[in-house]
Amino acid sequence: MRKTEWLQSQSQMQRQREMARGYVLLLPLLIVVLTLATGVSSLDNGLAVTPTMGWLHWERFLCNVDCEEDPHNCINEQLYMQMADIMAAEGWKDVGYSYVCIDDCWLASTRDANHRLQPDPKRFPSGMKKLADYVHSKGLKLGIYQDVGTYTCAGYPGSYGYYELDAQTFADWGVDLLKFDGCNFINLDIMIEGYKNMSLALNKTGRDIVYSCEWPFYLWPFKEPNYTDIKKYCNHWRNYGDIDDSWGSVKTIIDWTANHQSLIAPVAGPGGWNDPDMLVIGNFGLSRDQQMTQMALWAIMAAPLLMSNDLRNIDADSKALLQNRYVIAINQDPLGVQGQRVSKLRNFELWSRPLAGGGFAYAVVNRAEIGSPQKFSIVVFSLDSGKACQKECLVTQILPAFRFQGIHVLTSVLEFWVNPTGTVLFTVFPHSTGSSRKVEALRSNVDRRSNL
Ligand code: GLA
Repeated sequence: MRKTEWLQSQSQMQRQREMARGYVLLLPLLIVVLTLATGVSSLDNGLAVTPTMGWLHWERFLCNVDCEEDPHNCINEQLYMQMADIMAAEGWKDVGYSYVCIDDCWLASTRDANHRLQPDPKRFPSGMKKLADYVHSKGLKLGIYQDVGTYTCAGYPGSYGYYELDAQTFADWGVDLLKFDGCNFINLDIMIEGYKNMSLALNKTGRDIVYSCEWPFYLWPFKEPNYTDIKKYCNHWRNYGDIDDSWGSVKTIIDWTANHQSLIAPVAGPGGWNDPDMLVIGNFGLSRDQQMTQMALWAIMAAPLLMSNDLRNIDADSKALLQNRYVIAINQDPLGVQGQRVSKLRNFELWSRPLAGGGFAYAVVNRAEIGSPQKFSIVVFSLDSGKACQKECLVTQILPAFRFQGIHVLTSVLEFWVNPTGTVLFTVFPHSTGSSRKVEALRSNVDRRSNL
């Protein structure tokens, strides 16, 4: 680092310390206001009441900036306009996918003369305001990416030292979501301060901007993240490494989540969600069954549903799975409780998520990677102590195919055949309170949202 840069960074740090001191003084007031308003200490910007749904370019398109060689897959304004067109025209918006999100590599290599961020002029010649207007004209929202540190993970100018200016720039452009990454920070304390400062800066703009953090991920090797704090500042937060297009990656994330669920699951709820990273359904690496496992578990885990795939060229099965209204309704359930892995029996994992209306969603995952479909049998009273089946209950299989499984009692034995690396997703609702209507309610919940 050169001396001028060092001096600059020292004065930025000083500015940040002063800002931080100001925030520390304001913090008790903020906490009281938040607690009074919500009863819980979550980011009270009224956003992400249910997990965010949309599309995010990273896993599929990475940092492809070579628009001469690969114009169809490079990061330029056309890519987001085309995704927006398809999301509006081909049913994605109707089932709830509403955010079209830019990830890293959209920036020019320097800020402008007024220190404002600017997009790469060749790849985004119309500018971000125009792009946001276009996305909004389709009834969708625009997400953008920046980094808490001096540079983004791919080496473009970061927000460090410019949080307020960047938040205002995003608001001026009409941005609706910010993914705030955690690369190239000076030290952990400054990074945490930066995440908080950006949250406050976004709030100050007065625009509704969902704030998606990668905050805790980089902290794990050093200290356990403070989830109370994270939830206070972020609408969702990554906990673990980047997903890639493989079963190995998906199962590592599933395992990490299960192994840390007692710490992370109770924190999730309306306004703040754990983010296990993008859906890679519709790409190259997951089999049909593995795609179902990802979709089912992301629903159980109340995860943001951010697809990273090429909607211009997606097979019908993947599309149907991603647009499955019953699975989406489980993901978006208004109770907002994150499900957890409740047992492991031989090759099987059983995951459970309580739903509004006294029901539960269950995912039975067959972790075997060899052999044929295996039979999973379970007696109803061992599903959450039979809470959903005090008198009678309606059991409905959602994946791999929608099928009413009949009315059951506590002593009924349910049987499902589950493919290797696949999942059966089903719901159990009390029958006495009109269970068939409950299933319909799941559907109408999604319909209502998409009519907004
Ligand atoms: C990090 C994030 C990814 C992506 C890249 C972009 O690795 O975890 O999701 O945003 O940076 O460079």
